[in-house]
Amino acid sequence: MSDLVIRRLLVDMQQPIARHWCAGDAFRSAFFNALSMSFPVGEQFFIDSVKNGLKAMPESEQEPYKKEVQGFVGQEATHRRLHSLYNEHLTQLGYVNSWEPRIKKNLGMMAQANVRHWLAVTAANEHFTAILAEWLLRNPEILGTQDERLATLWLWHSAEESEHRSTAFNMYRALNGNEAWRLKWFRRVSAVFLLDVLRQTAANLHKDGALFRLSTWQSGFSFLFGQQGLVRQTYKPWKQYFKSDFHPAQQDDELSRQWLSDNSLKFTPVGA
Ligand SMILES: [Fe+2]
Ligand SMILES: [Fe+2]
Repeated sequence: MSDLVIRRLLVDMQQPIARHWCAGDAFRSAFFNALSMSFPVGEQFFIDSVKNGLKAMPESEQEPYKKEVQGFVGQEATHRRLHSLYNEHLTQLGYVNSWEPRIKKNLGMMAQANVRHWLAVTAANEHFTAILAEWLLRNPEILGTQDERLATLWLWHSAEESEHRSTAFNMYRALNGNEAWRLKWFRRVSAVFLLDVLRQTAANLHKDGALFRLSTWQSGFSFLFGQQGLVRQTYKPWKQYFKSDFHPAQQDDELSRQWLSDNSLKFTPVGA
């Protein structure tokens, strides 16, 4: 079990967001904006999953998980709140979030499912966010220098995703979630996530009038497949999830710890 600190990030989310805030790059801005659009509803589901997972445990076994669940819920609730403010600016800019209703529909179909399924979906998503987070912390220059506030928001979120990467996984195991469903949900989540993030990125680019520009896709290609590319650098850690002895703690969290210690003036711990 780990102690998860809840932090209040000292950024001003009232200030509007520039259309191409991410290094002036249409593709990268559209991609990160797409991810942000998925967070408020997705992270609420993760919160509900771990809370329900805790309730499903026999009372005598809950104690070691209580504090970690509290920290997890606090971190994800803070992410949701800031990304909701972020997304309001995106709405002002005319972007339409069509990913959120799709997530709601998919999650609606899970309403009656056993909490182990919720935790398996959450653990799968948390692996995704943890490997994305590590990639971003390793390549922070991708975020550019035009909006320091948003760069800080993304790196802080990444650092905390790395911190709590094991919570849902541990609870799935504690509730005797089986291996077959763990992998089945990971395959499904991977396919749906990749399709949806690309769909929303394309929709954002379409709104910008940049969808059919060659320069957009040249940038997109290097963003995904270049030396520092997202796909190139995350494929191996993504595959690790299929190993029978996989545990999220095997993933190195040095970059997360380093960022949090180097940037301690950018946040205040809550309830410390
Ligand atoms: Fe989060
Ligand atoms: Fe998370």
